[in-house]
Amino acid sequence: MKKRILSGMRPTGKLHLGHLAGALKNWVEMQEKYDCFYMVADYHALMSEYADPSAMKDNIIDNVADYLACGIDPDKSVIFVQSHVPEHLELDMILSAITPLSWLERCPTYKEQLREVEGRDLATYGFLGYPVLQAADILIYKANAVPVGEDQLPHLELTREIARKFHFLYKKEIFPEPEAIMTTTPRLLGVDNRKMSKSYGNAVNLSDSPEEIKKKIKSMITDPQRIKKTDPGHPDICNVYSYYKFFFPEKIGNLSDECKAGNIGCVEDKTKLADCVIELLRPIQEKRNKFIKDRNGLEAVLAEGSKKAREFARGTLEEVKRAVGI
Ligand code: TRP
Repeated sequence: MKKRILSGMRPTGKLHLGHLAGALKNWVEMQEKYDCFYMVADYHALMSEYADPSAMKDNIIDNVADYLACGIDPDKSVIFVQSHVPEHLELDMILSAITPLSWLERCPTYKEQLREVEGRDLATYGFLGYPVLQAADILIYKANAVPVGEDQLPHLELTREIARKFHFLYKKEIFPEPEAIMTTTPRLLGVDNRKMSKSYGNAVNLSDSPEEIKKKIKSMITDPQRIKKTDPGHPDICNVYSYYKFFFPEKIGNLSDECKAGNIGCVEDKTKLADCVIELLRPIQEKRNKFIKDRNGLEAVLAEGSKKAREFARGTLEEVKRAVGI
């Protein structure tokens, strides 16, 4: 029996190289070893985008086109939209009943986002409960493991705590305690060396045209101490070099030595990187464009995925309700 995994991304905008490196690449590989459930977490997106969710439907379709173009295969994995499986919300409600407020208030992601996020009022009931809904997403599929980035570890820990409390209270072991499968991606920064983020506009999107890719990569920050081409460079602190290391290890050659020796300049380096990224994305974009033109086809993939997800989710919810006695 294969182990099951569940993971999700919020449809808050276009997917970029960070999503490819941090999630999608692993998601694709995991299809061979696990039973995979991949979810578009639109309710989670709503928690932060509620004041203007008008782009949500388009973002969902756009992101799913990227999932498929990158190699997520609907014949191998269940691809679905969170809000199409209302059972998540029923389990969320039941788990809310047993989750102490203090667990949520002390959650580091909650505290950080309240402090850091500008232009959105996140002091809402829903946002406080964000990790409970995430626990419901995971537990309703009895997931054994969840591929996540480091930032999501507190949510996974909370999921395990909630599962333990459920088992303790209702004297029935329904959920496996899900493990984190940490993605070992190095931190790829945006083109301005800040955290890669849609809201900073500093990421290369999977759908960017060659011109946009060239423009963004040209603006990348390399080694700030290197002023002239003949100055010795420091590839280990250079974001351009990190991109090479992660995406194009086979093309690195003696780039590091040539940079340290001052033989290859940053401009040349970036021009080559842009060409590599354009090549990397070309086949993805060709597939993506085909999927985008067939919106009905994408909707059919999601309808089929939601049907499969719901079947599974219903079974768990029945067990849960029986254990609780409602
Ligand atoms: N919170 C996750 C993020 O922002 C998205 C998410 C929602 C998720 N539900 C999930 C991830 C369940 C893993 C499992 O990236």
